[in-house]
Amino acid sequence: MELPKKIVQLISGESYQTDEIGMSDSAVLLFKDKVLKVQVCGEEAGNEYELYKWLKGKLPVPQILAYEVEGNRAFLLMSKCHGKMSCDEAYMRDPRRQIRLLAKALKQLWRVDIQNCPCDNRLEQKLRQARFRVEHDLVDIDNVEPDTFGEGGFRDPADLLQWLFAHRPKEEPVLSHGDFCLPNIFLDGDEVAGYIDLGRGGIADKWCDIALCYRSLSHNYSGKYQKGISVGQSYPDYDDLLLFKELGIEPDWEKIRYYILLDELF
Ligand SMILES: Nc1ncnc2c1ncn2[C@@H]1O[C@H](COP(=O)(O)OP(=O)(O)O)[C@@H](O)[C@H]1O
Ligand SMILES: [Mg+2]
Repeated sequence: MELPKKIVQLISGESYQTDEIGMSDSAVLLFKDKVLKVQVCGEEAGNEYELYKWLKGKLPVPQILAYEVEGNRAFLLMSKCHGKMSCDEAYMRDPRRQIRLLAKALKQLWRVDIQNCPCDNRLEQKLRQARFRVEHDLVDIDNVEPDTFGEGGFRDPADLLQWLFAHRPKEEPVLSHGDFCLPNIFLDGDEVAGYIDLGRGGIADKWCDIALCYRSLSHNYSGKYQKGISVGQSYPDYDDLLLFKELGIEPDWEKIRYYILLDELF
């Protein structure tokens, strides 16, 4: 892959590993203390860049070292987060601490004043993007919950989209991560060390992140993923209500279902 000159200068000759965990089409190169994320230009790449800039000094996010757009690709060179992903084995073996910290990460997001937030990902926007994805056949139906489509579920993505339009919940706008899954939240000891992968972040309903956090915990604890790879190791002691206890709120299962279903189209 050909890299923009400015990026080449900043990483000159350093060795790297490639990331195997992320689920998107982006390429992520991990250097010793920097990370290069290469994405196809689009709303998400620009959104991620804007949000990192805006959140500087507000929340722990990577520092931007360079952002270059060349051809149809966006190259984001950023600092590497310290700590470990929240799905790291050390945290998986200590669900109480892990979930307490994930709840803390959510609450920290909700405390950010969204008045001048440059990114809006409320349902109006999300459903518009979802419609585009359905109409252009961009939905990956192999990477969905087993009961979303088919018998007892939705006929196809268009059927789901129609249901999502018809069942829009009332939104409680907060600063939302947008893809609040375990590999996108870095922890260090008892601190939240970094929020990464903010391409879908911005103003959105607070239940969007709660739903995706809940789903991500379920997947990781059932052994669906480990270090991003499906291995089947499960942790039978996991309590799926602990997240709500830590957040101090009652689960709103309808909204949780709604936002998990919405995410199936992305
Ligand atoms: N700034 C960063 N610091 C440390 N690790 C990172 C950073 N950015 C990405 N990574 C690693 O690469 C993985 C994939 O990057 P991410 O931005 O989440 O892309 P994707 O959209 O593919 O999920 C992350 O889960 C994390 O392990
Ligand atoms: Mg990610």
